[in-house]
Amino acid sequence: MKFFIDTANLNELKKAKMLGVLDGVTTNPSLIAKESICSNKNDVYKHYISICNFLEKNNGDVSAEVISTNYVDMIQEGETISLLHPKIVVKIPATENGIKTIQYLSKKKIKTNCTLIFSIGQALLAAKAGSHYVSPFVGRLDDISYNGLNLIKEIKTIYNYYHFDTKILAASIRHPLHIIECAKIGVDAVTSPLNIISCLINHPLTKIGLEKFLKDYKNKIC
Ligand code: G3P
Repeated sequence: MKFFIDTANLNELKKAKMLGVLDGVTTNPSLIAKESICSNKNDVYKHYISICNFLEKNNGDVSAEVISTNYVDMIQEGETISLLHPKIVVKIPATENGIKTIQYLSKKKIKTNCTLIFSIGQALLAAKAGSHYVSPFVGRLDDISYNGLNLIKEIKTIYNYYHFDTKILAASIRHPLHIIECAKIGVDAVTSPLNIISCLINHPLTKIGLEKFLKDYKNKIC
């Protein structure tokens, strides 16, 4: 399973790289808006390039989202973003125009990530259109009392039936159990803020065990 980091922040990416969990990056317009260095479109595009250059040469991709909503503009923006760097995957929302755009871009061999997926129907149409990834939003479904992980399971089952190549990139991850459950389902990747991945490491018995090892050692060995 790949670990993607859901951020546009280079410091967070640096920490993820050191931990060895930087298989890719996903951004969205809200995450980009948090970065103080991005105040116009040119800054944003330059920032995408910096993120791409930060990844290992032969590994990982960066999802960069279009902000247009009509078909013609989405295509144009998608093509422009895709030319910024070979690592760019164009993130497109699961709307009718989005699905048409994905179909158009995938015919041109431009990789896409269909985002804001909240239903099996959206995931099916994104796969039919040739999207490289689908991003079902687990946490946002949980927020409205739907079971986000169930959606992931159902998409996985259906994609297996029909041998779709589209990869499941579980998004809107809110806590470490989301990551563990996604791993059990067998998703291709999860994208999450780094602090949630860090929570996977901590265990009270590890802390207690280590303290005892060190105490025993220091008591006997000078
Ligand atoms: O990048 C999309 C997604 O991961 C957003 O997560 O926490 O804003 O629902 P969240």
